Amino acid sequence: MTARARSFGGAADAYDRLRPAPVPEALRWLVPSPDATVLDLGAGTGLLTRALAAEGVADVVAVEPDEAMRAVLAARSPGAPALAGSAEQVPLPDASVDAVLVASAWHWFDPERATAEIARVLRPGGTLGLLWSFPDPAQEWVSQLRAIAHTDDAGKPGPTAGFEIALPAGAPFSVGESEVFRASTWMAVDDVAGMLGTYSTVLTLPADERAEVRRRALAHVAHHVGTDPVLVPFATAAWRAIRT
Ligand SMILES: C[S@@+](CC[C@H](N)C(=O)[O-])C[C@H]1O[C@@H](n2cnc3c(N)ncnc32)[C@H](O)[C@@H]1O
Repeated sequence: MTARARSFGGAADAYDRLRPAPVPEALRWLVPSPDATVLDLGAGTGLLTRALAAEGVADVVAVEPDEAMRAVLAARSPGAPALAGSAEQVPLPDASVDAVLVASAWHWFDPERATAEIARVLRPGGTLGLLWSFPDPAQEWVSQLRAIAHTDDAGKPGPTAGFEIALPAGAPFSVGESEVFRASTWMAVDDVAGMLGTYSTVLTLPADERAEVRRRALAHVAHHVGTDPVLVPFATAAWRAIRT
């Protein structure tokens, strides 16, 4: 794993408190049935695991390589097994789950090895769902806020439906389809600045530069929005394909 892929554990608590959970409608679109057995892969602190539980999806197993992220997940989602593992080495038997969901983590995986592992653990007819949840750059003040954190959009879809994810050639999956879901949340301005600090582009900066990102984010929201709390628009970009 690269330094950026490993950076989240150092801010696991803030990550869990401040990062957006997926828009619930996206989960209804991705999960075939509440009775499905779901693997939350690259589960982090369990934002998706808990969102699935809130939607009535109880049979969720989480796999996460970072010990600090996994510890938060285990503490806050006591009903879900939290397994050490990675997308390239999933600690589950063949054909054991109905859906594999990957929230804001696919871009960290080795796509060849991860796709092979996901195909192995999915039952035929099962769903691979990739999702990314983010402050919605369709609003200009949010797009400028993201620029302050130098959020790196490489490998991630934008906020518009119709995007494509290219799986490795020959992967045993149907043609994918995509959708974008939106919801807004009131947040304290301090928390908006804190949320920016949980992006890997900021987590890997020296302390003085992280402080500068925070200072600029607070000034930006005060200048362009001027309320506290502030209504923050979020989007979940979702993509699904069926294991053939
Ligand atoms: C941006 S966080 C997303 C966490 C969680 N899915 C969420 O939506 O909040 C990315 C996560 O991917 C994990 N990760 C990085 N490389 C991974 C890999 N090769 N296999 C599985 N997880 C990985 C990181 O440890 C981190 O917890």
